[in-house]
Amino acid sequence: MTGDKLWGGRFTESTDAFVEAFTASIGFDRRLYRHDIAGSIAHAQMLAHVGVLTQPECEAITKGLRQIEAEVDSGQFAWSVELEDVHMNIEARLIARIGDVGKKLHTGRSRNDQVATDVRLYLRDGIDAVQAAITRLQEAILTLAEGETETIMPGFTHLQVAQPVTFGHHLMAWFEMLARDRARFSDCRRRVNVMPLGAAALAGTSYPIDRAYTAKLLGFDEVAENSLDAVADRDFAIEFVAACALVLVHLSRFSEELILWSSAQFGFIELSDAFCTGSSIMPQKKNPDVPELVRGKSARVQGDLMTLLTLMKAQPLAYNKDNQEDKEPLFDALDTVLDCLRAFADMLPGITVRREAMARAARAGYATATDLADYLVRKGVPFRDAHEIVGRAVRIAIDSGRELSELVLEEFRQLSTLIDNDIYEVLTLEGSVKSRNHIGGTSPVQVRSAIARARKRMLEI
Ligand code: ARG
Repeated sequence: MTGDKLWGGRFTESTDAFVEAFTASIGFDRRLYRHDIAGSIAHAQMLAHVGVLTQPECEAITKGLRQIEAEVDSGQFAWSVELEDVHMNIEARLIARIGDVGKKLHTGRSRNDQVATDVRLYLRDGIDAVQAAITRLQEAILTLAEGETETIMPGFTHLQVAQPVTFGHHLMAWFEMLARDRARFSDCRRRVNVMPLGAAALAGTSYPIDRAYTAKLLGFDEVAENSLDAVADRDFAIEFVAACALVLVHLSRFSEELILWSSAQFGFIELSDAFCTGSSIMPQKKNPDVPELVRGKSARVQGDLMTLLTLMKAQPLAYNKDNQEDKEPLFDALDTVLDCLRAFADMLPGITVRREAMARAARAGYATATDLADYLVRKGVPFRDAHEIVGRAVRIAIDSGRELSELVLEEFRQLSTLIDNDIYEVLTLEGSVKSRNHIGGTSPVQVRSAIARARKRMLEI
């Protein structure tokens, strides 16, 4: 055997120093240590259960692994690049601690099924953490929306004022996106929670293993059906990162709105000082750094997804060392999504809503033009004709620098004699939002019940 390598038997030369560092993953896979140890303990217990290990051997291994976990927890564990990865670092340490019996742990398994198991266990916890972070942000949105069910702002299409909406309604759009994001992780979790152990290197093992037993110990819902597939595919990780990427796409859009709204030109909201920074040269500046950074961080997670897709593409079955490259993008996506969700959940309660500025902007943009058209339709005018009449009314208002509600009745009646005094009620912002009174609509009544339903849905998850 050459050097200290656990696989050194067939080698006569020792590994090139650069290659050793180049092929090592310990720099980043050490964060799997808890899950690696949990997987090893379950594997040892299964081996004892089927009689491959004796009970005392299993106990010695279990005890040794728990002590190693404590060593890592307390920062005393010395990771070694020569031992390549988290699996061999821990196994070598076990052998050093408990002697030859430690060499029996790797019976009937390979690092290939071991690493696939570790990543799945790790990701299962990661998914739970992401879902909790989404829930926390959803709660913050609900609380903000509850106070803004009557607040009127312009709704936009093409970033042009379109129709008035309530700010509560707008916020609840973000709630819905996050609800789907959360559901995507539940969906992904079902496919993550399948156990590769037992696949060994690729073909399974000749020991009389009991995979269902190990799976139960580790809380896996199922065992992987095919040993080649179990060690080869990382589609579950791709799905996870895709779900993260979508969260970040949503948060980057949300960020963009907060950035626009907090500008002097909109003035709809103010972010708390704690979430902004100043400029070193321009004393008046208060920059929305946190939403800007979240918008920027969405780029890295899109990149992580591309990395994993490209990594997987064209690999022949079964395990290839390429797969070692799955970890950094995966960890990066997880860390980034958790940080960004947290930043948002912390930031939302400190937002000051400038209701007057929102209402002013809604009044200024002819946002109730559609309401005028709908009024004419109710009086029997075909919609296309109504559209034309209202277009002319908007033209008159623009040319004379007025809002629609500032045209006098005589001017309206020159466009259509069907228009009466009750038009002014229709042209108010309040009348406009109130009239959109159906499930999914923007009226305050509907938004209040949407929030109530959302609160209920939160209790059911
Ligand atoms: N560090 C490796 C990885 O992350 C563990 C599996 C190595 N297996 C092997 N046959 N070299 O994928």
